[in-house]
Amino acid sequence: MKEESLWTRYSDNLSFPRLLEDITVDVAIIGGGITGVTTAALLADSGKKIALLEARQIGRSSSGFSTGNLYEILGDELSDLVQLHGAEKGNRVVSSRREAILLIERMIERFSIDCDFRRVPRYFYASVKTSEQTIENEAKTQALLNLPFTYGPFPEKRLQARVGIVNDDQAQFNPQRYIEKLAEKINCGNVEIYERSAVEKIEKIDGRYILYTDHGIISAEKIIHATHTPKGLMTYHTLLGPYREYGLAFKINGRPHPPGIFFGYFGDFHVSTRGYERDREQYLVVVGSPHKVGQGDSVEEMNRLEIFARAHFDVVEVVERWGAQQYKTTDYLPYIGHKSKGEDVFIATGFSAHGLTYGTVAAQILADQILGRENPYADLYSPTRLNPLKSAPKFIKENANVFYEYVKDYVLENYPQDLHDVAAAEGKIVSFDGKKIAVSRDEEGHLHVCSAICPHLAGVVHWNNAEKTWDCPCHGSRFTPEGDVLEGPAFKGLQVYQLADLEEKAEKSKKESWIPRTGISPSEESGLI
Ligand code: FES
Repeated sequence: MKEESLWTRYSDNLSFPRLLEDITVDVAIIGGGITGVTTAALLADSGKKIALLEARQIGRSSSGFSTGNLYEILGDELSDLVQLHGAEKGNRVVSSRREAILLIERMIERFSIDCDFRRVPRYFYASVKTSEQTIENEAKTQALLNLPFTYGPFPEKRLQARVGIVNDDQAQFNPQRYIEKLAEKINCGNVEIYERSAVEKIEKIDGRYILYTDHGIISAEKIIHATHTPKGLMTYHTLLGPYREYGLAFKINGRPHPPGIFFGYFGDFHVSTRGYERDREQYLVVVGSPHKVGQGDSVEEMNRLEIFARAHFDVVEVVERWGAQQYKTTDYLPYIGHKSKGEDVFIATGFSAHGLTYGTVAAQILADQILGRENPYADLYSPTRLNPLKSAPKFIKENANVFYEYVKDYVLENYPQDLHDVAAAEGKIVSFDGKKIAVSRDEEGHLHVCSAICPHLAGVVHWNNAEKTWDCPCHGSRFTPEGDVLEGPAFKGLQVYQLADLEEKAEKSKKESWIPRTGISPSEESGLI
């Protein structure tokens, strides 16, 4: 699957240089999505020298593959959050998100960014009886928080909603156009933006952070991990559940999808739909079907979305298919701020499926903390807030799942042993010469051979057949068939093997294992000489 979403399809394909020299800055931001670019924009006039390093291209790791929806009220997670943390914190979450949407609106106005931003309502509905309780809970939670909503008959007939809630004044945009245009506007003066500059290692030397990329080194006083999940080994990875969900964009016949964000509950199937119009083309965007990274059937999940869209709308062909990652925390609140006391390392992660708005909340908090200013939401999202009792049930569940994946992949799985028996556009884990090998074959028939062991913490990667990637079920690192890192906490890619070397080595070790202690070779032993 090529890496395009409906949003990147309408990008202007702006490009930024690669880091090709050693530089010294005040703040190094790792990650060029909405969090990193917005933080850089907020620091641009501060007098601090900022470098932003994106491993791939601006917006194209995560933000450009999201829903493009901006809403202050979370989905059904709001009820869980309020149950765990109380109404006061629930209200603060909603206000922080409301302010973030206003900030996006101000940025668009200030920099004249053409990104199809619109204020629209958000609909939250159930189409089957078993999901009505979810809507009722949401209505009770919103009433408890004194949020303005209407609860009653649903306006869109094609979705066959039984009951729904409406929140006015939410928003939608094209996230890729927003991020890359914002990056273009701020890439001058004190801000330098680099693409194709993956950070491969970080060290602390004489009180400064040294970031290594393959063509240049950065020395920084402070660093921000704006990579969706922090890079490297951190305890936070045990508190995050990585999930993957899918998006499909269709051309639509006749009546377009009405303006608004529509979140639907159909029993165990949850889906969001929205319309998008650009260059006089009308599209339907359908997003949903999440599963844990490396643990679901990506093709089946995409098919579910397509069946849903065709059952409810008059759609023509699918013009784009894409996947997006999300990280859920164990207590329903993201981690934003100082990684630990006394360190000038900042993180922003655990946005669940609400990353465009939370990424902007994070940028405001991080910029204030870098500049030593108070932020009214810093304590709410502080990464050092850890409350073992509040997090315990989900923490145990997430980590039992990670442990199970290790055991299953190392002990229980029975892998095939033929390195060549892989069909075109498929991938397979093969057990060969005592190693677990990730073998895939591209559409042209070329084999790609890598180690199946994730360089982060040695999970065994799984093949994602819809996106043609290797995905690690433990903490969500993902890799191309050639072994390069796409996202997740791993700094380095999968170890790449040459097929001929592997086979030669295996042959050699087979022969060596045949040599008996007497020093007689296998052929001598069999009497063939
Ligand atoms: Fe942690 Fe793979 S992402 S082991």
